[in-house]
Amino acid sequence: MTTDTSIRDRLAALAADLDARLASTTTVADLDALEADTVGRESELAAARRSLGQVAPAERPELGRYINEVAGVMGDKIASRRRELEYAEASARLAAERIDVTLPGRVPARGAHHIITATIEEMVDIFIGLGFDVATGPEVETAWHNFTALNIPPTHPARAETDTLYVRWGDADEEVLLRTHTSPMQARYMLAHPPPVYVVVPGRTFRRDAVDATHSPVFHQLEGLAVDHDITFADLRGTLAHFAREFFGPSQRVRFLPNYFPFTEPSAEMHVSCFACDGSGCRVCGGVGWIEILGCGMVNPAVFEHVGYDPSQVTGWAFGIGIDRIAQIRHGVADLRHFFDSDLRVLRQFP
Ligand code: DAH
Repeated sequence: MTTDTSIRDRLAALAADLDARLASTTTVADLDALEADTVGRESELAAARRSLGQVAPAERPELGRYINEVAGVMGDKIASRRRELEYAEASARLAAERIDVTLPGRVPARGAHHIITATIEEMVDIFIGLGFDVATGPEVETAWHNFTALNIPPTHPARAETDTLYVRWGDADEEVLLRTHTSPMQARYMLAHPPPVYVVVPGRTFRRDAVDATHSPVFHQLEGLAVDHDITFADLRGTLAHFAREFFGPSQRVRFLPNYFPFTEPSAEMHVSCFACDGSGCRVCGGVGWIEILGCGMVNPAVFEHVGYDPSQVTGWAFGIGIDRIAQIRHGVADLRHFFDSDLRVLRQFP
């Protein structure tokens, strides 16, 4: 017959062993086995419960409580070890499955402004800073706006088909062409706005030129026009000198040489000291130390009359800058065609 003391001793020994056995159990699967072995249905503990029937009835409740107590303590210890092992296994699994998302991602290719666009914006910004308005106009223009309004006579060689690209435009009586300069916007702007006028006009222009390293039938200009009371050539000089210093650098020198344009009188061309050699003479400036960058002058009263301004009330000045050549010289682009070829190897150099 099973005795009370022998069961107690066995269970006490089992409980005393448990701590060491739990400590050496390192996986949940091992713990499952240990649990089955110590408190499971086939365990000694279960056998002790089953053997209660054979214990003397007087001792039974006391022994039953003792078994339950031992079972409770062992169950709690196993459950606590289970939490530890489950946590450790989950952490190990997370560490093993970890994905490093801190690597640099795939950055989408970013576009950039074309060097001509960037140059135009830089120039325009300088005039915006001086309070100028910005306007754009049609690339397909009438001969009246492109030539007549600008005091360019019908016989002027610039009107010839060898120089100007004419457009067949329905049955229109008017001659229609691709504008040869941005100057027709002087007429358009004055027709649409009463004085005073302070405006710059960037845009594409067209001439019948063969393509080579320094010529293209499509090129870009920035037109400027200021009309107000008592505007003088000194204003023109000061404004353009300011532009040159802002655009090329604070030590930039400028000079004005007489020239002729039908729409300005007097007319001039402005040169800047060569920004490559600072005036000492180099390949960029062809050895002369100066680079011509624009035509300018006082607006011819004949132009005011064409657009309905009273030349006895207002004076004005105008200028036209060739943008492509400036961008070319400034960035050392030897061949103008690079600007129009859309070759990514070139474009990527101007991010
Ligand atoms: N339109 C001229 C050209 O294409 C440039 C020019 C010269 C514009 C004098 C002007 C000016 O406004 O006053 O060569």
